[in-house]
Amino acid sequence: MRVGSEHYRSIWTEGDGRRVRIIDQTRLPHEFVVVTLADLEDAARAISDMLVRGAPLIGATAAYGFCLGLAAGTSDADLDRIGSRLVRCRPTAVNLRWAVQRMDGILRGLPGHERQDAAWREAAAICEEDVATNEAIGRHGVELIRAAWEDRGRREPVRILTHCNAGWLATVDWGTALAPVYRAVQEDIPVHVWVDETRPRNQGAGLTAWELAAAGIGHHLLVDNAGGHLMQNGQVDLCIVGTDRTTAAGDVCNKIGTYLKALAARDNQVPFYVALPGSTIDWQVEDGRQIPIEERDQDEVLYVPGRRDDGRLDRVRIAPDATPAVNPAFDVTPARLVTGLITERGVCPASRQGLLDLYPEQR
Ligand code: MRU
Repeated sequence: MRVGSEHYRSIWTEGDGRRVRIIDQTRLPHEFVVVTLADLEDAARAISDMLVRGAPLIGATAAYGFCLGLAAGTSDADLDRIGSRLVRCRPTAVNLRWAVQRMDGILRGLPGHERQDAAWREAAAICEEDVATNEAIGRHGVELIRAAWEDRGRREPVRILTHCNAGWLATVDWGTALAPVYRAVQEDIPVHVWVDETRPRNQGAGLTAWELAAAGIGHHLLVDNAGGHLMQNGQVDLCIVGTDRTTAAGDVCNKIGTYLKALAARDNQVPFYVALPGSTIDWQVEDGRQIPIEERDQDEVLYVPGRRDDGRLDRVRIAPDATPAVNPAFDVTPARLVTGLITERGVCPASRQGLLDLYPEQR
């Protein structure tokens, strides 16, 4: 996607193709800073500290982390060392495990001296596939937006509510939930996006709003608790969110607060769609309650970061010094609350059968 006059991806390589660069998403929306990942530790910390985040981008970064880790050794023991360092970084997004297993699977069958070249090729392939996948999600998802536009008599913009950031910053490019939105704009379908701020890390306020502003797409930021009110008042035509892990039965684990939006959507007959690449489906898990939910530091809840009027970045405490906080980073929306899953292979019901019809190789 474009940032000013330049086209960016969220992760890329430079020079000899082995210099890994990312946008430090902890600095957005206030500063656009590109950093280099020099070794495995850099990649692991970028994932844990959320310089990169979003399930698909976590997977892509892990793939490059694997490449960087091979600089210290390419034996089977090194593959074990690298894989176990990376999978510990964040527990919920299944793309992390998916990418690590894919890299390991390709490399283990090769002699040590061929592993580095093969790893860089595979990481690049993961990124290219991610872009193509998300572009396809956009193509399928835009039909839902087009249908909503027809329902509105092709006069008024389609009003879409989204939670967290499932835009291009969360993937290598395009995004998942926002891919249909970007596609709609390309196809001259007017859209307006309601952006949940997404406490506590404010991925909506800091990342989704930044993406939409950069792309010139109409949007408003709203506090997390406002979505139900907008839905009750007929101001939301559809919800589209992303997911960090979708079970084989169609339960969806996504950023904390997604579940409440799905409940409000159901109560108000607002269609609730989830956009995802196949790499986000965990075929080993049926029941979303089995998904490990990341618990993050309580300071993310107790302090709010932002930019002061003098331009300096700062944070303020919002609770009494004696008050502790809990900080579950994700929740599970049961399949019964999901209108449909938008995948790279088409839109399907959120059910085991629906997913198997699109991914028959998993039967
Ligand atoms: O904690 P984050 O910012 O990594 O959480 C991201 C989300 O919850 C996204 O909605 C999800 O990864 C889908 S991204 C295409």
